[in-house]
Amino acid sequence: MKKITSTNASSNETAKKIRNREIAIRIVTLIAVSFVLAIMLRVSRIDEFNTIKDFFVGRVWLQIFIISVILAAMLSTLYFYSIYIRRDLRKDKKLVQVLTASIVLTFALVLLFGTLINLYIAPLVLCSLLVGALLDKRIGIVTNILISQAFFLTAMIVLGPDKIIESSAALITSMITAIFLISNLDKARTRFRFTVLGILVGLCTAVIPMLINLLVNPEDVIAMLMSGLWSFLSVILSIALQMIFLPIMEYIFRINTIFRLGELCSLENPLLKKLAVTAPGTFNHSVAVGNLAEICADAIGENPQLAKVCAYYHDVGKMKNAEYFIENQSGLPEDNPHNDLIPEVSVSMIVSHVQASYDMIKAEKLPDIIADVSREHHGTTPVNYFLYKAQSYTEDDLNKLEFSYPGPKPQSKIAAIIMIVDTVEAASRAIANLSNHDQFRKFIHNLIKGKSDIGQFEECGITFKDLKTIEDTLVEFLPSMYHSRIQYTKPSEK
Ligand SMILES: [Fe+2]
Ligand SMILES: [Fe+2]
Repeated sequence: MKKITSTNASSNETAKKIRNREIAIRIVTLIAVSFVLAIMLRVSRIDEFNTIKDFFVGRVWLQIFIISVILAAMLSTLYFYSIYIRRDLRKDKKLVQVLTASIVLTFALVLLFGTLINLYIAPLVLCSLLVGALLDKRIGIVTNILISQAFFLTAMIVLGPDKIIESSAALITSMITAIFLISNLDKARTRFRFTVLGILVGLCTAVIPMLINLLVNPEDVIAMLMSGLWSFLSVILSIALQMIFLPIMEYIFRINTIFRLGELCSLENPLLKKLAVTAPGTFNHSVAVGNLAEICADAIGENPQLAKVCAYYHDVGKMKNAEYFIENQSGLPEDNPHNDLIPEVSVSMIVSHVQASYDMIKAEKLPDIIADVSREHHGTTPVNYFLYKAQSYTEDDLNKLEFSYPGPKPQSKIAAIIMIVDTVEAASRAIANLSNHDQFRKFIHNLIKGKSDIGQFEECGITFKDLKTIEDTLVEFLPSMYHSRIQYTKPSEK
């Protein structure tokens, strides 16, 4: 007993040491990034230095130190806020990496455009657009507020108070623009619609620098109009730069943004197009599962777009032997190719679609989560139809495992949702005879309970409350989606 206690204590001690070391590394990274940004900011005023010696005077390094402290305070506040919002990423290096990459990139581009053209066009909103799409909308908005403030303060230090009008106009405009754009990030869904939204927001917020100029210098109409134009171009530039850098960052950090998921949902995608032609029944089933999975994921606080994409691709492996799956058959008993096969062979044909789906998704280099869900969506459930058929030919007890999917069981809530909705969608083909609402609810309840009773949800972290919510959602939405298949009398109509 003593031995176990001392082993636990030493493993806790080791875990604590590792955690402390990781926190120390992240703090050093934030300080180093702040220092690099401060040097970038100071070097951007290269016109102030006649010789290289001028850069190494005390005043310049004092400025670099002050700017570093301001930026370090800003970055650490942002980091701790981000951990608070994305608790799931608190142990993930991705969080610091995404924040750092977005901030350094934005600062470099702001300095480039700010010094080459003017401060109005500096693409300040870029950082929050990247962070909003890659991490979280709330973190994106807070990033924008902190970045804009830091930019304003450092512009004052480096460029002097004569740039106060330009930098304060850029500060206010970028904060308002970012809030509007990020709030609508998931509603826009495609990059084209987001660009249209950006043009509208850019036109509206261009009024702000014009009003500030009108207030300060009412005689100079040209300057006022130009400030509006540059401000509008700043929003367009930020969106254009986001279009360029977001796919690169999506790839580097392996994060699925709302845009990437939207593109994968497009029925123009080659793999989905091929599925529609090769296995039209499976294609229709996948789209129906996608619609239901989206609603169910939303109901339990999971990513609805991700659930929809996973559903669209979960059965692509059926393309290999499409005619062996019931949804692609004519319905005439004599056309069923399983008539000529022994149950063991039929099962191996059916079960193999899980690995085939996984391999196809991997070969297309789609996100890992889509491949994982395709492999997990049947878990380790048995193919009862062929198990019972095989049992009818023999007195011996058959090994159930030989008639079951190989697994693994669902490892995420999204995989569990796809498993439930897949089962319910397939079963809904045969529930036209249910006569009332209570029977319908019981039917859905039994399907979910059946999976739960054989332990399919024990590795994915889904709760009983989640399962009840999914059941309620399916009872509410399934009849409206399959009104021709499901006909029952609601309690109020009895
Ligand atoms: Fe399947
Ligand atoms: Fe399926």
